[in-house]
Amino acid sequence: MSHAVEIRDLHKSFGSLEVLKGIDFTVDEGQVVCVIGPSGSGKSTLLRCVNLLEQPTKGTVTVGGVELTDPDVDLDAARRRLGMVFQSFNLFPHMTVLQNVMIAQRRVLRRGRAEAERVARGNLEKVGVAAKCDDFPAQLSGGQQQRVAIARALAMNPSLMLFDEPTSALDPELVGDVLAVMRALADDGMTMLVVTHEMGFAREVADRVVFMDGGVIVEEGPPDQVIGRPQHARTRSFLSRVLDPGHIGEGVGGPGAPSDEAPGATG
Ligand SMILES: Nc1ncnc2c1ncn2[C@@H]1O[C@H](COP(=O)(O)OP(=O)(O)OP(=O)(O)O)[C@@H](O)[C@H]1O
Ligand SMILES: [Mg+2]
Repeated sequence: MSHAVEIRDLHKSFGSLEVLKGIDFTVDEGQVVCVIGPSGSGKSTLLRCVNLLEQPTKGTVTVGGVELTDPDVDLDAARRRLGMVFQSFNLFPHMTVLQNVMIAQRRVLRRGRAEAERVARGNLEKVGVAAKCDDFPAQLSGGQQQRVAIARALAMNPSLMLFDEPTSALDPELVGDVLAVMRALADDGMTMLVVTHEMGFAREVADRVVFMDGGVIVEEGPPDQVIGRPQHARTRSFLSRVLDPGHIGEGVGGPGAPSDEAPGATG
């Protein structure tokens, strides 16, 4: 059977530093998989290898039946099916919200102006920022900017959405709006791979949780198992640092990142 995402024996080294040491997992169509783990464990590197922003040292990445690590693959075409949302929103500051959501549609998908605008407005509506179409990113809150970034990714009709700590740069009161948009996407059946410290979100929305430490997957399974009844000491130790026990299972939001994982530390 074929998976939406299939990662096999993935290794990534930077010089002599081996960051990913043999990662194997799959994501099925319509599933949400949350990746959790301490700072430096390789979570961002893993996501960047999934869309080949980083070239894996060894192993295969297959998305929608297309092996991206095949040297003969049309990588630009394959990447078009992947939406990526980063911790920092990476909007073009000199373009309006609407232009930000239209530009890649126009340049990459070669959509006409009217169609690109229609798709942009539809997606901005979906994430709740349609009223901001003519504003510039600097005029928006962080949560609104992140929702524009999500709309921009969705406008490309991705078959898979990758999120790398999409809420960790946000003020706490803005986190919920972004998580609500992500939850709605998941409910719509979007296949999602999400690096997050939001344990409430992982617990409620994820089909599976993958706990990484030191470049390997220590354990994975349903959220109730990995977050609720972790088997490994490393998982328990990580969770005790990020979880406020009083908030387990209570809505989205939850505790922020621990103090040794300051926003902006990732590339
Ligand atoms: N381009 C790079 N060149 C050299 N080393 C890198 C590069 N990118 C990442 N690393 C190293 O790889 C390791 C894993 O980094 P990565 O960003 O994947 O961790 P992470 O799990 O996402 O951490 P965080 O929770 O802080 O975002 C770190 O030791 C980091 O310094
Ligand atoms: Mg990271």
